[in-house]
Amino acid sequence: MAKFDVSVVGELNLDMILYGLPRELELDREHLAKDLSMTLGSSSAIFTHNLALLGNKVGFSSSIGSDPLGEICLQRLGECGADLGGVRRFPGKLTGLTVILPCGTQRYILTYPGTMFEMSYDDLDLNYVLNARHFHLSSYYLHRALRPRIADLFRAAKKAGLTTSLDTNDDPEDLWADDLLQVLQYVDVLLPNEREACRIARTEDAARAADILAERVPLVVIKRGKAGAIARRGKEQFASAPVEVEMVDPVGAGDSFDAGFIHQFIRGARIEDCLKYGNLTGALSTTRAGGTEAFRDTSHRTLFLQKHWK
Ligand SMILES: Nc1ncnc2c1ncn2[C@@H]1O[C@H](COP(=O)(O)OP(=O)(O)OP(=O)(O)O)[C@@H](O)[C@H]1O
Ligand SMILES: [Mg+2]
Repeated sequence: MAKFDVSVVGELNLDMILYGLPRELELDREHLAKDLSMTLGSSSAIFTHNLALLGNKVGFSSSIGSDPLGEICLQRLGECGADLGGVRRFPGKLTGLTVILPCGTQRYILTYPGTMFEMSYDDLDLNYVLNARHFHLSSYYLHRALRPRIADLFRAAKKAGLTTSLDTNDDPEDLWADDLLQVLQYVDVLLPNEREACRIARTEDAARAADILAERVPLVVIKRGKAGAIARRGKEQFASAPVEVEMVDPVGAGDSFDAGFIHQFIRGARIEDCLKYGNLTGALSTTRAGGTEAFRDTSHRTLFLQKHWK
């Protein structure tokens, strides 16, 4: 029997969110933020955290530096009950950090990658990574050292009998190079947002992107922010309406959606229910600052899920 329900390979860093961005930033002036939140960041860590709190055994493989920020990440992530046995410490290196400046419903995002650029295939313990029923990787374009062998990793997961999912997230270079196509051969569930789906499929039209991607992967799930989400399995089309919420912060909604979707997917749920639950956990995430705060509050999380599910 596999040790974990889901094994995640990805990046681990904190998000520093500064609210109240002035209309214009002037050089050499001191601008005051209205609020500050230091919270667990990075797509993979938010996914892992929230998936564990939904009741799954999750094994996490990642890297941190030998600095206090890395220790804070581990402590935060450890609180959700995920297994951190796959996290390596790189001596003398710095853990990554993301600074987020929300601006209306959008935000500026500035990331120092730190060790997330350095973790390579050889740093991974494959016995640990593959000891699961399902394998997930997020932030394809942030794994600079690992990227040339991500296809090998997915192939190994498929060979070992795991189902697989991938959320590429954004490509900071906006190149969307073809190496991703090698990886897609071994991906069961692809989880981009609308913009990413269009970039990967090289089209401006989201419906066309879904068609194109559905020829490459068995299941394409496209996140559409406050418009909910759609899925495509071969020629079959699915759509799910969003849950209505008072949005506080969209950071991490995509990763939280992934957690809810995969939570149902590995239980063999119908696509409609996977989408519905993804919309629910995505919406839950937006009710608090950052990507994990709404999940950390047990009574808030439980009440929200009970109120909106079925
Ligand atoms: N304002 C909102 N109201 C309700 N649900 C929302 C809202 N914003 C996001 N969601 C839910 O969260 C999901 C993911 O959001 P989004 O489309 O922003 O993903 P993303 O761009 O991948 O996010 P991320 O920046 O976290 O990677 C949506 O599909 C939806 O289910
Ligand atoms: Mg995303």
